[in-house]
Amino acid sequence: ISLSVSPTGGNASSPYQYGIMFEDINHSGDGGVYAELIQNRAFQGSTLIPSTLSPWVGIGNASLALQNTSIPLSSSLPTSVNVAAGTGVVGIRNPGFWGIDVKVQTYQGSFWVMGSYNGTITASLESTSSGEVLASTTIKAHSKTGTWSEYHFSLVPTKDAPDSSNTFSLAVDGKGIGSAGLNFNLISLFPPTYKNRPNGMRPDLMEVLKGLNPSFLRMPGGNNLEGRYPPYHWFWNLTIGPLKDRPGRPGPWGYANTDGLGLVEYFQWCDDLEMEPILAVFDGLYLNRTIIPEADLAPYVQDTMNELEFIMGSTDTVYGALRASVGYPKPWNLKYIGNEDNLENGLSSYNSYRFAMYYDAITAKYPDMNIISSTDVLSTPLGNTTEDYHIYTNPPALVQEFNYFDQRTAAHKTLVGEYAITTAANSTARLKYPTWIGSVAEAVFLIGIERNSEHMFGASYAPLLENLNSVQWSPDMISFVADPAKTVLSTSYHLTSLFSKTRFTTVLPVNSTAGFGPCYWVAGLNSDSGEYILKAANYASNSSVPFTVNFGAGSDSTATLTLLTATDINAQNVLGGTNQVITNVTTLVKTSGAFSFDMPSYSALVLTSKIV
Ligand code: AHR
Repeated sequence: ISLSVSPTGGNASSPYQYGIMFEDINHSGDGGVYAELIQNRAFQGSTLIPSTLSPWVGIGNASLALQNTSIPLSSSLPTSVNVAAGTGVVGIRNPGFWGIDVKVQTYQGSFWVMGSYNGTITASLESTSSGEVLASTTIKAHSKTGTWSEYHFSLVPTKDAPDSSNTFSLAVDGKGIGSAGLNFNLISLFPPTYKNRPNGMRPDLMEVLKGLNPSFLRMPGGNNLEGRYPPYHWFWNLTIGPLKDRPGRPGPWGYANTDGLGLVEYFQWCDDLEMEPILAVFDGLYLNRTIIPEADLAPYVQDTMNELEFIMGSTDTVYGALRASVGYPKPWNLKYIGNEDNLENGLSSYNSYRFAMYYDAITAKYPDMNIISSTDVLSTPLGNTTEDYHIYTNPPALVQEFNYFDQRTAAHKTLVGEYAITTAANSTARLKYPTWIGSVAEAVFLIGIERNSEHMFGASYAPLLENLNSVQWSPDMISFVADPAKTVLSTSYHLTSLFSKTRFTTVLPVNSTAGFGPCYWVAGLNSDSGEYILKAANYASNSSVPFTVNFGAGSDSTATLTLLTATDINAQNVLGGTNQVITNVTTLVKTSGAFSFDMPSYSALVLTSKIV
């Protein structure tokens, strides 16, 4: 196949071509990227997912009970654990989110306690496998009946634990506890966080996400935003401020969310990875298909307006002042708002009133706001909006979508807010991890998106993250456990990272001696890095395809070819396994005005050559 890339013409590429989509699913937030180490730190619960003691256990002969004391820690956190008076050392022990990674670093902890106790409280990290105390500190406590007191401490292990099978405990002298027992709540422990943010993020996972070079963050759902049924959607105002004022909520994926990772933390995440926020807002649809009727929707629309004022308003506004009062006087700049709302059969209420009510209210106050709709823009264009397109399918079906975006128009851009290969061809069984053939199919799809970049916003794989101890949806792009050394970067991670790190600013016309299929390509240039770029994928079982690529006289005499193949088309990167994706980087020399190489079956590549 000979490709001749025109040095001129073409279309500007989206600056947001690759991004990430996040919701708390698979313990991707609590027990995931949110760095809190204590699972069930505040016994948060609801009618849908009641409070539980699990996974806390007692120390010594401790008798533990959940209590809603007459004086709660806060109206948001009414439930605490009561440790009854006893003999010897008693207390509470927590195994973290299926383990705690213990290293020689400083852990910052805190807890609240109420009840009569004048003595020491020992906070420790211990190894379950060896029984060894890895770090310990004593806190002098003067706790009183009827008053909640907060204590802070730090723990500094003297050596790294051999594995993540470690626990955290608080221990007291059982004889010193008054007859009503001692109540603990909001028991928290953080390792050093990304950029040392208080209440921050797990650094290793943030580095992995940075490796995707993401340009946007779509959050906080997905289904997690919508909630299972009324009234359990995501309430932005209950995710802000001190942790003791965040009640948490029953996430729709089967576990309670602490909401420690809240609205402010999402925006800080955007700041830290330099991502454009795409804020999904609740718009009157629950997962059980309960829909807020038109006559009742106005307060929900107003709630979104309040949320937007909290994010963007000056400190002279009510909600801008609220933002300042929780520590963030500087507003954020939000340009994109969206939601997934394709669950209603025929989208009838969405198309007839829900979208319009939100669109009208938001654009009246923020005329430049880009609203991302959930409709098919070709059949139901709603104002000058962007469409949010989602697809979960098998490899040949996704390859068929290569041309899907050719019919888009610049007036109605498309965000591919969720995509993934979820099954093998001719199978309904969910893959546990992405496969290489699936990742090559994703490469074909992404090339189709990039070819139409002037009509597209960008694309984000979903779901992004899974804690392998709590999987509600597979496959996921990144799988992890407590031990950072065990994080699995899927075949799709490697493919996306390569494509995302090599961006076009302009997509250029290409003349070819062959049509698309089984090889697919897109070419362009990056005016910032000063490079011509070709991205290609070969989705075929037969032998390699010889390519010559001519970027024109303005390209350097050499080019860098980064070629991704795998040990097997069905290869998967799995927990404890080695990386099955083979990356070959070679320097090509221009001959007769072109760069030549063979493209193996089931491969993806990026070719770059400096503009001279
Ligand atoms: O990504 C998993 C789920 O798929 C999301 O919650 C939802 O938006 C979609 O249907």
